[in-house]
Amino acid sequence: MKRNGLTTVYDCSVIELPRIENPAGNITPVHGNINIPFEIARIYYLYDIPGGETRGGHAHKELLQLIVAASGSFDVLLDDGINKRTVSLNRPYYGLYMPNMIWRELLNFSSGGICLVLASLKYEANDYIRDYNNFKQIKKR
Ligand code: TYD
Repeated sequence: MKRNGLTTVYDCSVIELPRIENPAGNITPVHGNINIPFEIARIYYLYDIPGGETRGGHAHKELLQLIVAASGSFDVLLDDGINKRTVSLNRPYYGLYMPNMIWRELLNFSSGGICLVLASLKYEANDYIRDYNNFKQIKKR
């Protein structure tokens, strides 16, 4: 698994998570370094997302993430500076693994959609690259 700045959109992968099925409702447990390739330091979730809104629009220098449509659906646009790829998430037992240094946008949220994110590091503003041209420059090195 590449962990340097040379990651590509093909290093992003959809991981099928465990499912404990029950007629009364299902459970998906996620263990860091077992079901996903990193230890979980933080979780956060996006909700109450107005129709037509786009989230993301940045890359992370070091952060690794697993993105899950915990409810509803949305699309994730992935971009490594050369290749682009779109992944649609619409089941709570699939997670999109994202290595560092991938530009992403989240869009086409269904009504009531919830985006759950498991992250390898605590929040750190300096880990963000929010300027696309800057991102492209860094990827070229
Ligand atoms: P951001 O990651 O840019 O949101 P998105 O990618 O979903 O559009 O974060 C939006 C704001 O929330 C930004 O000011 C930073 C803050 N924030 C935290 O304080 N802690 C966190 O763990 C996250 C994810 C964001």
